[in-house]
Amino acid sequence: MALDRAYIFAAFAWLVAASVFGTYIGIIGLTVQSNAHAHAGLLGFVISALFGLFHHNWPKMGKSRLAVAQFVTYQVGAILLVVGKYQVDATGDSAIVAPGSVIVIVGTLLMALIFARHSAE
Ligand code: HEM
Repeated sequence: MALDRAYIFAAFAWLVAASVFGTYIGIIGLTVQSNAHAHAGLLGFVISALFGLFHHNWPKMGKSRLAVAQFVTYQVGAILLVVGKYQVDATGDSAIVAPGSVIVIVGTLLMALIFARHSAE
């Protein structure tokens, strides 16, 4: 599957998950977890949708040897970051959020590199 569509499908999955999670924390009053919910919506849905639109607008980016690795890195990092934020706000333990944050940064830097190398072709 082309990476623009893969990213947009991932964005929809994040939107559904973030919305279900937001509804859940709203109903049971678990607003201590609103930070994890917000990151699912913003890092998950919004950034995935933007990365998909970048790929669509600059199709040569998808030809990069790093493109699939960047997609996997970013998505795994975002999942770990959101799960880790839940954990840190539930227990104070930052064992998952710390690596998740670093992986998200690596995925973001890879996207910037792919854009820099291939958007002008
Ligand atoms: C059906 C969809 C959604 C529901 C039911 C929902 C529900 C909620 C609830 C209950 C809160 C906590 C409010 C409080 O602390 O009193 C919240 C906060 C928040 N939500 Fe959502 N939400 C939804 C979708 C989204 C989406 C798609 C995004 C982002 C793209 C988003 C971003 C945020 C942000 C930034 C906050 C504030 C977080 C904070 O103050 O720490 N929400 N939402």
